[in-house]
Amino acid sequence: MRRPLVGLVLVSMVLVWGTSAFSEILRGYGPASPTELFRQLAGVTLGDWPTRGREFIELVPSFKRYFLAVILGVSGLFLLHFLIFGPKRFSRGEQLVPYYGAVTRLFHWIAALCFTCLFLSGLAVLFAKSLGAGSFVRTLRVLHLVAGFGFFGAIIPLFLIWWRDMLPASYDLSWFLSLGGYLSRKKEPVPAGKFNAGQKLWFWLATVGGVVMFYTGFYLYRFEAPVATLRTYLIIHNVLALILTAFFITHLYMTLFAVKGALKSMITGRKGLEEIKYLHPKFLEEVGP
Ligand code: HEM
Repeated sequence: MRRPLVGLVLVSMVLVWGTSAFSEILRGYGPASPTELFRQLAGVTLGDWPTRGREFIELVPSFKRYFLAVILGVSGLFLLHFLIFGPKRFSRGEQLVPYYGAVTRLFHWIAALCFTCLFLSGLAVLFAKSLGAGSFVRTLRVLHLVAGFGFFGAIIPLFLIWWRDMLPASYDLSWFLSLGGYLSRKKEPVPAGKFNAGQKLWFWLATVGGVVMFYTGFYLYRFEAPVATLRTYLIIHNVLALILTAFFITHLYMTLFAVKGALKSMITGRKGLEEIKYLHPKFLEEVGP
């Protein structure tokens, strides 16, 4: 009963804040197009960036360094984590609990495939010069667009299926404070429901962030907006891509290496009872034994 209430309060707060921010921006502009609205919102957060051409030209190539730092840094940290703590292992011999429905799994794997394409082709566009900048990179740029549409098409149903389960809960902060128990070899129950706080954060970033990536990316691909707008979109697209890259690597590490058997859950749709008891104990309280 408390979860829908928390959700309602949260949605109302976002609506109130969103409406006042939008009306503030709209004041003096008359009816604005979504593009104009987005530009104004970006202006609030990015200041006069779009007009600072020289800084912009210097900033863009530095994204290559940032991406390399995020990819190598985050992967290195997880390699270290794996060497020190190893994976968490749970028995799948006991009763298996239905966890992911067929539709969820279908759209998850479409999103996963498209995101992987987006990630790799995005890097190819970023490092185009080193790859010869020829027809190979141009083809990957088209693939980037196609995968963007696929990803957008998959996260809409995923969002509708999962958003309720992904709303913040009172125990999420404790999960963050204990880092989900991942800094220990001991098996102890952590405060989490069907999804833990880290998974929820990934969900919101991937879905809401995914829509922003799609919107900004679409304009960047067509290259048909005022220069200042394109610059703003490029910064948003790149900064968000850096954040998503860090979380994507985290998601891959957690599901492929840190928790043995997680991959099987997303293939078969069922999770072992022991894993749920330790990693998602509140889920058992919610659905009963
Ligand atoms: C190749 C890429 C990917 C792989 C291998 C992968 C794998 C998995 C696996 C095995 C699970 C089940 C985890 C468990 O129940 O313990 C899972 C869950 C999930 N995946 Fe992915 N996934 C990928 C990409 C994505 C993408 C792009 C999204 C963005 C929409 C995404 C969103 C989620 C969410 C929200 C969950 C549920 C909570 C969680 O475990 O994080 N995944 N994924």
